[in-house]
Amino acid sequence: MHEEAAHLSQDVLTRSPDVVAGATDAAQADAAGKTLFIQTYGCQMNVYDSERMADVLRPLGYRQVDRPDTANLVVLNTCHIREKATEKVYSEIGRLKAHKDVMAQKGDHMTIAIAGCVAQAEGEEIMRRAPAVDLVVGPQAYHKLPELIARAARASGERLETSFEAVEKFDALPTARAPEGPSAFLSVQEGCDKFCTFCVVPYTRGAEYSRNVDSIIAEARGLARQGVREITLLGQNVNAYHGQGPQLEGSNTWSLAQLVRHLAKIGGIERIRYTTSHPCDMGDDLIAAHGEVPELMPYLHLPVQSGSNKILKAMNRKHSVESYLETLAKVRQARPDIALASDFIVGFPGETEQDFEDTMELVRAVGYAGAFSFKYSRRPGTPAAEMYGQVDPEVADDRLQRLQALILDQQRAFNTSKVGQTFDVLFTGKGRNEGQILGRSPWLQSVHVQGPEALIGQLHRVRIIATASNSLTGELVISS
Ligand code: 5AD
Ligand code: SF4
Repeated sequence: MHEEAAHLSQDVLTRSPDVVAGATDAAQADAAGKTLFIQTYGCQMNVYDSERMADVLRPLGYRQVDRPDTANLVVLNTCHIREKATEKVYSEIGRLKAHKDVMAQKGDHMTIAIAGCVAQAEGEEIMRRAPAVDLVVGPQAYHKLPELIARAARASGERLETSFEAVEKFDALPTARAPEGPSAFLSVQEGCDKFCTFCVVPYTRGAEYSRNVDSIIAEARGLARQGVREITLLGQNVNAYHGQGPQLEGSNTWSLAQLVRHLAKIGGIERIRYTTSHPCDMGDDLIAAHGEVPELMPYLHLPVQSGSNKILKAMNRKHSVESYLETLAKVRQARPDIALASDFIVGFPGETEQDFEDTMELVRAVGYAGAFSFKYSRRPGTPAAEMYGQVDPEVADDRLQRLQALILDQQRAFNTSKVGQTFDVLFTGKGRNEGQILGRSPWLQSVHVQGPEALIGQLHRVRIIATASNSLTGELVISS
């Protein structure tokens, strides 16, 4: 295998490193639509596959053209049936390389992909012998094409002009803005390298990128000076944070845990939260911080999506139910009172009643303080959109209702468990009723009390006297 080639799976070879630096520069590059040329050899099966490939690449902004010389992406869909098929592929690659070089001189990029049976049989040989080839994809892995093309584009500094429509609830984070009260968002990370098969974020938001430590700390200090007491660190994959900063413990790359410990020392910052996280990036140092940094609030949003390992695999989540539960056990050991939250998708392609029941069982086993649950929404261009076994919408609706009822029960139970407890509430504004003020518990619950507006912007001790499904009611504790 070529030394630069990273082996993704048996069916796929690529030269693109998994995490590609400079992705933000790429995001500023020319965003004109891209062109695609597919050369099909051999049988009807290949003709059909070429059409499918054009279909999955269209939402990434690729328009098919009938000449290869200036195409941004050239796919050779090869056939292995006749002798010397491989030699024919190499001579075609040679011709394409000449076009690729001419384009490079003009500042354009051509990605060359080899698909079909020759790719399957001789992929490693092609990557070794033909450095002009960017990726090789066998017939079993065409559903991975969007991911492979996005990774290749990132590696070459290109920008994909996707036609994914934004669906706010799925791919947007709250935006960081001027603080309106004592609680503010602070963006520290953007983008995603995980490529879950249902999700548009890796295409719409690009590669994982972490802001540098100094700029984050400067912004946090500024917020603290403006009266902010609670900061929520934001990122699509915030616990994968790896920003550059001053040398610390022998490295210039800071983890989220190191960032949190540092932010906690800023005068005025009394509470820190972060959202949202991926189970695979829940490192031991971050888990330890939950037990050791009092400013880090006892609330963790760690999406699992499904309680079935079969579905998690089809989602390309890269974690199992068991590894997720193990992570939660460690987090609970570090911080026993932590409130856990998650995201769930029901009706993912191939989800059976048993798979859904496994999700319900996982929820019963964990006991969440709250969760977001969504009906699977098919996003053309994502690998899951092409999967077999799309679930009937009525079946998915029914599952969603059952899951939401269970989560609501757990949320109520969690809220009720706080009755009689006394803790600090950060007051953020006026309540709905006369004389009422509204604040937030350490576990992200809304808390109403009768109290003076002068407390808004501050933390104050509150004893909880009652609950509703969505909020707590308390009374101020007057210290003697
Ligand atoms: N369909 C349904 N839910 C989705 N999410 C993301 N993409 C989809 C989709 N295509 C959900 C996931 C994710 C949350 C932000 O949105 O649960 O964690
Ligand atoms: Fe989307 Fe989150 Fe998966 Fe990234 S980790 S692909 S943002 S669901």
